[in-house]
Amino acid sequence: MRISVIGCGYLGAVHAACMAKLGHEVVGIDVDERKIADLSAATAPFFEPGLEALLKEVQETGRLSFSTDMSAAADSDVHFICVGTPQKKGENAADLTYVDAALTSLLPYLDEDDVVVGKSTVPVGTAGRLAQIVKAHEETAHLIWNPEFLREGHAVADTLQPDRFVYGVPDGSEDHPAVAILDEVYAAPLSSGTPRIVTDHPTAELVKAAANSFLATKISFINAMAEVCEASGADVTRLADAIGMDERIGRKFLNAGIGFGGGCLPKDIRAFMARAGELGADQALTFLREVDAINMRRRTRVVELSRELCDGTLLGKRITVLGAAFKPESDDVRDSPALSIAAQLQLQGAVVTVTDPKALQNAAKRFPELHFEPDMDAAISGADALLLLTEWKQYQRLDPHALHSSVGSPRILDGRNVLDPGKWRAAGWVYRGLGRA
Ligand code: UDX
Repeated sequence: MRISVIGCGYLGAVHAACMAKLGHEVVGIDVDERKIADLSAATAPFFEPGLEALLKEVQETGRLSFSTDMSAAADSDVHFICVGTPQKKGENAADLTYVDAALTSLLPYLDEDDVVVGKSTVPVGTAGRLAQIVKAHEETAHLIWNPEFLREGHAVADTLQPDRFVYGVPDGSEDHPAVAILDEVYAAPLSSGTPRIVTDHPTAELVKAAANSFLATKISFINAMAEVCEASGADVTRLADAIGMDERIGRKFLNAGIGFGGGCLPKDIRAFMARAGELGADQALTFLREVDAINMRRRTRVVELSRELCDGTLLGKRITVLGAAFKPESDDVRDSPALSIAAQLQLQGAVVTVTDPKALQNAAKRFPELHFEPDMDAAISGADALLLLTEWKQYQRLDPHALHSSVGSPRILDGRNVLDPGKWRAAGWVYRGLGRA
């Protein structure tokens, strides 16, 4: 099929490459000239495992191209909207400027029977509104909402082999003509057994908001348990292991630590609360306010623990933060809890050095006042305390014996509960985890 993908960020660039991998002829379109130049040269504009290799592989087939010009969408029959929906400045609601602009500039190139497929995360009600705009312009074209659930760091696999497909169509019916067209787009994963659910527009939009809210709630639940564990001398990691054995609960997303960040969960739960308020259903989501508050409290707690670890004062203490990305296998620093903690520590008088294998360039753009050191050994040398805040594999594998002589004082705060406390203590370190005695 001939496909256009509008917006080539974390979602769209991966989606375009994966659609070409599935055998389609794809053009990726974005207003950012540098991004398009990179992608055209088969260079990933951000770090995502497997993306660059995939770009190279599919570009050799001639099925994938990129453009800054929307007219490149004219030959396509299916148009994916993959632009961002960031949080509005000073408000909780989502900013739909980019979604609206993408559709408006696509309209002149829509042909009969074309299908516009929304993948961006939008407030419920958006698809219905956009569908009317599409119909007003081209009666025979359709708008379908097909939310994306990919995780950064696993984006390629999540796109090629997702858990499920959700198609939101105007009448919610399997017989809607756009369903067969999207089935053709996803023929390969569907034939290997990926389930798909056809719903109406609002249900499809809400599936995404509900899924992210559930994940955020799960993380904040275990972080709330961590607070109680800290107050009572219990160990939240063992608690999570034990409750996670109940299949109804499950162990995934029960890792207590410094909380969730990134470009999705924080802003999506806030946008969901804002939208529920507009709909008069705000009471239904007041618990998400608590989820957000528990999450933000984790950051404050790490600053307090760091002070305790540094004998009661942060002033002049040399603190090395291991990890800047919001999660490992990503260079994304949007709402990164690690960086927000690093900035707080610096404000409170600590001399902070941040290291990360991939995210330092992005981190320096957002927090130019922080000191960054790409060489981990240099970053660690002479430190009064280490803070492991993003659980990259290389940090999980650190050898406490080998490291002991490099630091000024052997003290470590394990913000992700990924180290073995016994091993670190036996090597002479003061170890502190989160939610662990
Ligand atoms: C998330 C959703 O998982 C994905 O389905 C959706 O499409 C977009 O948002 P992503 O932002 O890539 O994906 O990251 P995710 O793996 O969900 O992690 C989010 C945050 O939660 C990270 O900061 C991570 O460190 C944190 N987290 C995750 C925890 O603190 N504990 C856990 O147990 C799991």
